[in-house]
Amino acid sequence: MRIIRAKDYNDVSRKAANIIAAQVQLKPDCVLGLATGSSPVGTYQELIKKYESGDLDFSKVHTVNLDEYVGLDADHDQSYAYFMRTNLFDHVNIDQANCNIPNGMNPDAEGECARYDAVIASFGGADLQLLGLGPNGHIGFNEPADAFVKGTNKVELTKATIDANARFFESWDDVPKFAYTMGIGGIMQSKRVLLVVNGEKKAQAVKDCFFGPITPKAPGSILQLHPDFTLVADEAALSLVQDLL
Ligand code: F6R
Repeated sequence: MRIIRAKDYNDVSRKAANIIAAQVQLKPDCVLGLATGSSPVGTYQELIKKYESGDLDFSKVHTVNLDEYVGLDADHDQSYAYFMRTNLFDHVNIDQANCNIPNGMNPDAEGECARYDAVIASFGGADLQLLGLGPNGHIGFNEPADAFVKGTNKVELTKATIDANARFFESWDDVPKFAYTMGIGGIMQSKRVLLVVNGEKKAQAVKDCFFGPITPKAPGSILQLHPDFTLVADEAALSLVQDLL
């Protein structure tokens, strides 16, 4: 595990974008595993800047996203497909036919999970997987549990997640209750993992996942076993582990 210390969110974003940019420059036809949520937004903005300045070419890049809500189509403004288009894909020269994300509209969960695992396997895993970290240590939608789940799976969202999402929907009933997520096996298959984390509210998860035992109760802790794992964290996220660095 490699830890890159950053000052703040903008610094995390610049440092992470530099690593992803180097990956794309060294292997223009690479496979990038991508995440949604607030953590990678700044990283995507930095990548867009690098594209606009002529330093990056995404024309041969393929992507595999971590997760998608079940029941939301790609045009719904809360879907992760929509998030990826508005935060990255629409602003760079990527071929969106090369961008993979679980299909939240497929009611056949088993079929959709098998299809997505076959996509990941066809690439032999991502060359670089970008991750955020949940305050409870989740990666993708792999929540704390009694065992690590290997393959893409359908997860029931926690009430806390549903409540937090409710503000984006007309009613609580409209909020998705399930998601499809890449499993721990899919994440661990990627050749490099880059996790971006910032803020005090993630400090406990950083301590539990990267400075504690490897356990499915802290899903991100599995990354301690990855042979090429880089954590880019700001001072606030590292505030509980300063003595251990
Ligand atoms: C996103 C994802 C989640 C988030 C995590 C952190 O695709 O799979 O694991 O990375 O919930 O979310 P933020 O960055 O919004 O704090």
